[in-house]
Amino acid sequence: MSTVLVTGASGIAGREVSRGLAAAGHQVRRADVAPAPDPADAGIGEFVRCDTRTPTDVLDAVDGCDAVVHLAAWHNAHRPGVSDATIFAVNVDGTFNVLQACRAAGVQSVVFASSMAYGWGSVYSVTKVLGEDLMKMYHEVTGASVALLRYHGFVPEPYLRWGERLLRNGVDVRDVATATVAATEAALGRRFDVFRTIVHSDHGMPEDVRADFATRGAEWAETRLPGAVALIERHSLELPQSVEQHDLSEAAELLGWRPEHDFVEFLADLQRRDAAGEDVGSLWAPGRIPA
Ligand SMILES: NC(=O)c1ccc[n+]([C@@H]2O[C@H](COP(=O)([O-])OP(=O)(O)OC[C@H]3O[C@@H](n4cnc5c(N)ncnc54)[C@H](O)[C@@H]3O)[C@@H](O)[C@H]2O)c1
Repeated sequence: MSTVLVTGASGIAGREVSRGLAAAGHQVRRADVAPAPDPADAGIGEFVRCDTRTPTDVLDAVDGCDAVVHLAAWHNAHRPGVSDATIFAVNVDGTFNVLQACRAAGVQSVVFASSMAYGWGSVYSVTKVLGEDLMKMYHEVTGASVALLRYHGFVPEPYLRWGERLLRNGVDVRDVATATVAATEAALGRRFDVFRTIVHSDHGMPEDVRADFATRGAEWAETRLPGAVALIERHSLELPQSVEQHDLSEAAELLGWRPEHDFVEFLADLQRRDAAGEDVGSLWAPGRIPA
């Protein structure tokens, strides 16, 4: 059994990832500045209060771990927002401190939460560039296996907006968790040096539908789920012009991971709720189809 530290364990991804690692038989140590909001999470594994900006907190949290999943970060998709200075300090200094602690503890397996926002468009985006670079440096210096996961979007939204989001670079947080657990296990198995993948939904649609979704999407959805066209119309779901799709074959080969949650699953869920007379207008999706 491996001991895996999850930083940012009280966040949206952190809770799902911690549950997934525990279910896969790992001993989980959860680290965060804030405790998890759901008391049921207490059963998942030890919780350590840790501010990643404080090196001694991080040294204590990492000590004795075989792998580290580094999710702790600030992004302003959450309310209330924080300053760019805080985003930089948490996302860059925090990542540096985590890697210094990994080095001190001899950790050879690290997974890093990068983002589709990777780039130069904002301070947050740049922190993911610097984070990935720090991770690559960690591999160069220590030989560790490092996975860089560029997650697409899974921030909580109203249910119907969430369904639309799945077609606009959204990913269900359950797919985020299975990808992260698979990457952790592959890193523990030393199956790569540095591996990077996008973590994205796969709606399994043909190229011509993907490229012209506004025209062909509803008809395609109807072939997958009878009644789809009526649902899209009844709820005025806005379809994008086209749907972005990345090649996830390397992740399938190396990690054995494929996304499982998609737009048609959302439509089927919506159909069930309609049939049950539920008021979906007031429903909230916490980064996934709600229970
Ligand atoms: N949510 C998305 O749509 C999305 C998309 C792409 C990438 N990501 C990345 O995935 C990771 C997880 O995102 P999330 O949406 O679950 O975030 P979240 O905000 O829900 O969770 C982040 C957690 O980090 C903790 N944290 C913040 N500062 C800390 C510090 N100094 N020390 C320790 N813990 C600290 C917070 O308390 C929180 O529990 C982040 O790295 C984020 O940048 C998220």
